[in-house]
Amino acid sequence: MAEARERWGSRSSFVFAAVGAAIGLGNVWRFPYITYQNGGGAFLIPYLIALITAGIPLMILEYAVGQKMQSSPPTALRKIWSKAEWIGWFAVVLVFVLATYYATIMAWCVNYLYYSFTQAWGTTGAEISNFFNQTLLGKSGSPGILGGIQLPVLIGLAITWLLIYLCLFKGVKTLGKIVYFTVGIPWLILIIMVIRGLTLPGAINGLNFYLTPDFSVLLSPKVWLAAYGQIFFTLSLAMGTLIVYASYLPKNSDITANAFMTSLANCGTAFFAGFAVFSTLGYLAQSMGVGVPEVATSGLGLAFVTYPAAINLLPVAGVLFGALFFLLLLTLGIDSAFSQVEPVVGSIVDKWGFNKKWVLPAVVGFGFLMGIPYTTRAGFYWVDIIDHFVCTYGLTLVGLLECIVIGYVFGAPKVRKYINSVSDVRIGPWWDVLIKIVTPIVLGASFIFELITLIRKGYGNYPIWTTFTGIGLIIVLLIVSFILSKKKGGNP
Ligand code: PHE
Repeated sequence: MAEARERWGSRSSFVFAAVGAAIGLGNVWRFPYITYQNGGGAFLIPYLIALITAGIPLMILEYAVGQKMQSSPPTALRKIWSKAEWIGWFAVVLVFVLATYYATIMAWCVNYLYYSFTQAWGTTGAEISNFFNQTLLGKSGSPGILGGIQLPVLIGLAITWLLIYLCLFKGVKTLGKIVYFTVGIPWLILIIMVIRGLTLPGAINGLNFYLTPDFSVLLSPKVWLAAYGQIFFTLSLAMGTLIVYASYLPKNSDITANAFMTSLANCGTAFFAGFAVFSTLGYLAQSMGVGVPEVATSGLGLAFVTYPAAINLLPVAGVLFGALFFLLLLTLGIDSAFSQVEPVVGSIVDKWGFNKKWVLPAVVGFGFLMGIPYTTRAGFYWVDIIDHFVCTYGLTLVGLLECIVIGYVFGAPKVRKYINSVSDVRIGPWWDVLIKIVTPIVLGASFIFELITLIRKGYGNYPIWTTFTGIGLIIVLLIVSFILSKKKGGNP
């Protein structure tokens, strides 16, 4: 007889864990910037439509799969259809790869938290940019030149994995208590940052940039793809995370209410974070006497170059706000990071019945080792390249396959009946239409669109062999998933 399944201590523990998984580094730099880039306030329209037509329906589906089958993704999918186990493994190996580079970005945050006390990043814009690119990362100039390991990054990586281990090792019940802090603390810090940001001179210019609607963009398919892509990444869909988290709930938990709460909390937080980011950018632009677009950079540069520059300019308490900002990133990121590790651990435990006490340190140790290439002088490039392949192709493929297996093989009405039997808010046949037609079409279209772009241009400004490496990685992960699904399990 297998041991009784682990359980969340309460329903709110589960919701906080799912919210914590959803709210991550992506919310602070990715959402505000993508909004600004895709029509400002007008982008909220495709974003909300993506949330309603794909995000929430797929989240309901993943909650239902995990909760009904009481198993991690591979076993849950096998119980749905004996030939579908590999899809679950594919999600699991993808999320493992995601965890290895996500932890590297966290490692940079660990270093910056330390630097923030002395503002070690320097004073002028050139100094700050040089500090990130050369002093911390020691960028080699090409993904092919690994150079040596950057020791501070390696130390940060070790600290991050240690934190992940400490959060997970006591099991799901304790995790359910930790998540109150890893969600509560960043919310508190965000409120402070928004108030600080809005009271800075020039803030309004930043907000104008963030939110002034440009409705003409709604005609561009790229904007719609950006909205759907952002929704999938931000809600942590198609990565196994939500399935494994829901599998620790009792079978009769309310599914639709949980899905509405998690997705609204996540998207509300992203929108709110935009106020903190863009008010500060408005201030930076005004202080430097330039326009907001000139300081509004995307992605990692925003957190590690632009933001420190703004912090330096603060008239008072720069050290405090610097430390708060990086503490914000760390507390936001840590619950996303461990939500990427739990599906891997849970899947191995569920299939082979090994003791979690040993599986967790093995996965953590392996994750740390696999992260070491990202601590080299070429690490930055590889974070960028692997992220593109995992999140663009892997994630869309898994989402698409989940819709097909549930919608067609298992039967959407059957799942809907189960969902309605446990939920207060009942869903109608519209859900079947979304899962069987709308979401797969969107995912299929974006997959093909991205593939065509890739074939035409390769990815980024890197040598072409990096594109082959990315494609190769996805193929290897697919093969590994097949092999894992063929291995005999230890659990019925
Ligand atoms: N949603 C997280 C973010 O926005 C990232 C994430 C993806 C976390 C997949 C878990 C699984 O940063």
